[in-house]
Amino acid sequence: MNRTHTNGELRPIHEGQTVTLIGWVARRRNLGSLVFIDLRDRTGITQLVFDETKENLVRDVRNEYILEVVGKVALRKDPNAKMPTGDIEILVDTVKVINTAEVPPIMIQDETDALEDTRMKFRYLDLRRPMMQKKLIQRAKIVQTMRNYLDTNGFIDVETPMLTKSTPEGSREYLVPSRVHAGEFYALAQSPQIFKQLLMVAGLERYYQIARCFRDEDLRADRQLDFTQVDIETSFLSEAEFQLLIEEMVVKVMKEVLGREITTGFLKLPFNDAMNRFGSDKPDIRFGLELQDVSDVFANTTFAVFSNALALKQGSLKAIVLENGASFTRKETDALTEVAKKNGVKGLVVLKVVDGQLEGSAAKFFTSEESAALITKLNAPEHSLILITADAWEKACNALGAVRLALRDKLNLVSKDDFAYLWVVDFPLLEYVEEDQRFVARHHPFTRPKEDQLHLLESDPAQVQACAYDLVLNGFEVAGGSLRIYDQKVQEKMFSLIGFTDEQIHERFGFFVDAFKYGTPPHGGIAFGLDRFAMVLTQSDSIRDVIAFPKNASARCPLTEAPSPVEAKQLDELHIKIVK
Ligand code: AMO
Repeated sequence: MNRTHTNGELRPIHEGQTVTLIGWVARRRNLGSLVFIDLRDRTGITQLVFDETKENLVRDVRNEYILEVVGKVALRKDPNAKMPTGDIEILVDTVKVINTAEVPPIMIQDETDALEDTRMKFRYLDLRRPMMQKKLIQRAKIVQTMRNYLDTNGFIDVETPMLTKSTPEGSREYLVPSRVHAGEFYALAQSPQIFKQLLMVAGLERYYQIARCFRDEDLRADRQLDFTQVDIETSFLSEAEFQLLIEEMVVKVMKEVLGREITTGFLKLPFNDAMNRFGSDKPDIRFGLELQDVSDVFANTTFAVFSNALALKQGSLKAIVLENGASFTRKETDALTEVAKKNGVKGLVVLKVVDGQLEGSAAKFFTSEESAALITKLNAPEHSLILITADAWEKACNALGAVRLALRDKLNLVSKDDFAYLWVVDFPLLEYVEEDQRFVARHHPFTRPKEDQLHLLESDPAQVQACAYDLVLNGFEVAGGSLRIYDQKVQEKMFSLIGFTDEQIHERFGFFVDAFKYGTPPHGGIAFGLDRFAMVLTQSDSIRDVIAFPKNASARCPLTEAPSPVEAKQLDELHIKIVK
């Protein structure tokens, strides 16, 4: 085909040139004897004009037909400042219809009211919408920038298996039955974690991979079943050196992809502070409404909601003050209570400061000293709203943190194109699971405990912090990583703390523990959730908007209709019987 230019390219300097364009018909309008057609390709739109002598050429042409046109570039009488090509139009001479199209089931334009499942069923049309193409292009640019940075900094791109052995990253795994070995299973890799550490043992020193990962998770707006990590591992770097390397990469991404200048030296916020101040281990620090602790105000309270919470291990009362929030209606505060409940607590205490007094159903249970002390402690002005969660520390923080985000969205407290990065550091190494009465690794069991706290592994493991760091952007964990254990004894101790017997260690990670006998370098790394990073950078509401062919919220692909039943013969080969 002979196209001379793309549809995003022509400007007044091309006036008078004869050009050949190809594209889809985005829109046609008849104006008296003239026909105007907007011709679209992935670079943009150009307006075509057919005069009365040419109008017959496109009489049958409808939206989404593909045309090849030859014509002359002319200046428009009424330029359209909204279009990059809006100063010119093409006076068409000849037209070839390259292909016809049925009426598409969704409109091919940025604004759409199509249901998401319809968009996903006809994804190839959905992806024709300019804003979707822009997101995919930006995503590709993010990957390219990260790849370039890593390549120029001595990182080696190595692929690791997707079909592998079950590993303990914490999420549920996808199992793949082996045809050759009846009754045995591969697991789809949740991440390349074990392999990248083995590559450090192998002496590669700097590794990266754009890795597909698989996790059988309950889906959310920022999660998929199969997703992509930009996975990185290095040897012989300190935590600070490694973080700087990553910050420099992020600075490059911001510049190349968004044209933004940011500088290294990201804020490092300890986990405890993140929870106490923002009610989240991935805080959005672009706005205030910070949490405050009011446990001491109610140390002797008779209000059962508070006293029961304070009687819990690490029981806490957390509060937020919203200036002028007293005007919130019952319906509005009920909605906030719902948010708190969905995020793990039984309710939300709602109080208003009116005429210097507290109003709200809980207020009658407070002594006048308690009410006064609360207002003073919170510095709560007249006509403010006070919201309090009461539960074990982490739960009380998380639930109120979710309420804080709900207020952000309700009151439009941030601008979407404000980007705030920070590291959350000093995570606890372990997390106690009440139901199972045991510890689990908060990140994964290869995370290195802080050197000066090793002695606590025996006496008070819950206090031990990890050399772990999450990179947070606008309230999303876009990357997570850690320095790794490289001492065999510490690794064994870690396994035993999370309840693995020697036998289980041997059976599940014998190969891994063995590798550590042969000179393991100190090492550490990180993995970016590429989809999630792209979602935030492109200001998308859902991770699905930056994935070409995603699964929907009920874990299905509306396009291919996966998952689907399979032939009995296939199951037989895999030694599998479906039991109803
Ligand atoms: P982690 O489990 O924190 O760490 O994952 C790293 C990053 O991957 C993204 N992510 C996801 N994105 C979309 N859908 C999902 N289901 C999903 N799960 C995780 C997040 C997260 O920050 N091996 C370690 C990394 C390391 O220690 O180096 C790991 O996988 O953005």
